[in-house]
Amino acid sequence: MAAIAKNVSFLICLLLSSSFPAIISSSWPPHSTFPFSSSPFEAAEAGEPRGKWTLLMKSIGISAMHMQLLHDDKVIIFDRTDFGRSNLSLPGGKCRINDFAVGIDCTAHSVLYDVATNTLRPLMVQTDTWCSSGSVGPDGTLVQTGGYRLGERVVRAFTPCDDDACDWIEFPTYLAARRWYASNHILPDGRVIVVGGRGSHSYEFFPKDPTLREAAVRLRFLAETSDGQEKENNLYPFLHLLPDGNLFIFANNRSIVLNYRRHRVIREFPVMPGRDRRSYPLTGSSVLLPVVLSGDDKVEMPELEVLICGGARLGSYELARGGNAFLEASKSCGRLKITHPNPEWMMEEMPMPRVMGDMILLPTGDVLIINGAGNGTAGWDAADNPVLNPVLYRTNEPDPAGRFIVMSPTNIPRMYHSAALLVADGRILVGGSNPNEFYNFSGVRYPTELSLESFSPHYLDPQYGAYRPAIQVIESEDNSITYGQVLTVSYFLPMPSPEIGVTVTLLSPAFATHSFGMNQRLLVLKVERLDKVSATACKVTVRAPRNMNVGPPGYYLLFVVNVGVPSPGVWVRLKPNA
Ligand SMILES: *[C@@H]1O[C@H](CO)[C@@H](O)[C@H](O)[C@H]1NC(C)=O
Ligand SMILES: *[C@@H]1O[C@H](CO)[C@@H](O)[C@H](O)[C@H]1NC(C)=O
Ligand SMILES: *[C@@H]1O[C@H](CO)[C@@H](O)[C@H](O)[C@H]1NC(C)=O
Ligand SMILES: *[C@@H]1O[C@H](CO)[C@@H](O)[C@H](O)[C@H]1NC(C)=O
Repeated sequence: MAAIAKNVSFLICLLLSSSFPAIISSSWPPHSTFPFSSSPFEAAEAGEPRGKWTLLMKSIGISAMHMQLLHDDKVIIFDRTDFGRSNLSLPGGKCRINDFAVGIDCTAHSVLYDVATNTLRPLMVQTDTWCSSGSVGPDGTLVQTGGYRLGERVVRAFTPCDDDACDWIEFPTYLAARRWYASNHILPDGRVIVVGGRGSHSYEFFPKDPTLREAAVRLRFLAETSDGQEKENNLYPFLHLLPDGNLFIFANNRSIVLNYRRHRVIREFPVMPGRDRRSYPLTGSSVLLPVVLSGDDKVEMPELEVLICGGARLGSYELARGGNAFLEASKSCGRLKITHPNPEWMMEEMPMPRVMGDMILLPTGDVLIINGAGNGTAGWDAADNPVLNPVLYRTNEPDPAGRFIVMSPTNIPRMYHSAALLVADGRILVGGSNPNEFYNFSGVRYPTELSLESFSPHYLDPQYGAYRPAIQVIESEDNSITYGQVLTVSYFLPMPSPEIGVTVTLLSPAFATHSFGMNQRLLVLKVERLDKVSATACKVTVRAPRNMNVGPPGYYLLFVVNVGVPSPGVWVRLKPNA
């Protein structure tokens, strides 16, 4: 924690012309002494704003099993093709023939949701995308991999377009192994690594590595962490990229570092203690905690920590599927310094148990844990007691007792096959839940959910409106930035403020499915300088990351965070230096 506090960019924009005293502080998250109350963080702790839920659409026609935000502020959403007709027709009389479930299917199983207009357009997937994975490449194209049956070796691509012409493009049988319940990560060289999947104890690359004799490289760790057929407890492994370019992989209760260039496991961490397991179907979630950059001349090697929360204890799946006994889910989180030479798991307790929770990195560096169930596991009819309250995890709160804050509840259960992700304005989009086979809307305890909601965290509460920065201009051509570049961001504040503490963050959006946000990472940029232009205008100068392993090339959302209140995000594109 000391390292984070020491490195973090927290500066005060001095109010030279105002009568307010300037307050200098160097803590993070920004602690402030507002004249009338406390910082937003303290307000939330004191039971003030706890966030607000809004029903955006009663039905998007499909269940949001997989979601990815693209750099045109549209969210690509899809479920699967083989469980009957959805509630949304394909346009222009299009149909798929030879559908596994219904023969001829003229309904959509994917949509493109436009955040700004709250409208959607049906898309057409040709093959089954059930329990698949994805990553957005450096050019903003979604590369999605695998699925089930005829879809299990397919790579699909979706490139955003200005008109309504773009749709899925499929590359059949591209993959060397079946990728069903696999995880992906974008690599610093722009390739994608695809790891695991049911029955596939291997990894491979997109595009294919021509130097490899076997396109799929065996990974014994995946065989070792499997507890057996249909209850592997190691599917959808958690992947996080390390500053030296190697890959952290967590499955079940174990974690390793893989050097995927030399095909060697170079490190194993201590086993995560406790009776709980964290991977599908005992599904927990994981995030890489904020990557705090130093801006140093040398190659940047920040200290990294992972946080893994929730899951279920061994045996829960068999009990839930067999005898309808839903054991209480895991209440614990583990935090591990993965760049430390000898790290130990630091275990913490959430306010309530949760399996199938989604962990979302917020622009402020805190983590929101949302969706899921209090009993049971992932799988058909295998969970009960939906957890309706998200929980805020305050990454930098030193007192463990004050680290978790219970937020306002929704009234819509979001269990198996639900998803959640952050959009540019700071809200969380929440959709899906399909805990029964097929589009099953009645006659079951937890019907298939077609609705789309948003959760506005505490920082969007109107009471903090006066502190919310608005980015005016990013001084860089086309909002493109290169590694190590010095970047000036001008922003307004709605009113003169006695204290301005600024943090600038870059967020790479997640591919969200099965409780894991693949490729999700938040970079805290080094602030080089802060200038006050007028009573309500500031200019902050930051250093772009220097190391491509720390932030692989691609589109990121840039946020200016003023005393805990984030601006709406602005897209920037991090490009390799020429
Ligand atoms: C789905 O469509 C069916 C048939 O048109 C309709 O009865 C049902 O209400 C729809 N369900 C939802 C959740 O929109
Ligand atoms: C980790 O999980 C495996 C597989 O379930 C189990 O055999 C092993 O005992 C666990 N290790 C610890 C230290 O809990
Ligand atoms: C959830 O687990 C708790 C603790 O074991 C138990 O008391 C409760 O009845 C369970 N709830 C359901 C719905 O199974
Ligand atoms: C709904 O789910 C139940 C339990 O899995 C199943 O028996 C039933 O056939 C399903 N209904 C439809 C319409 O698919």
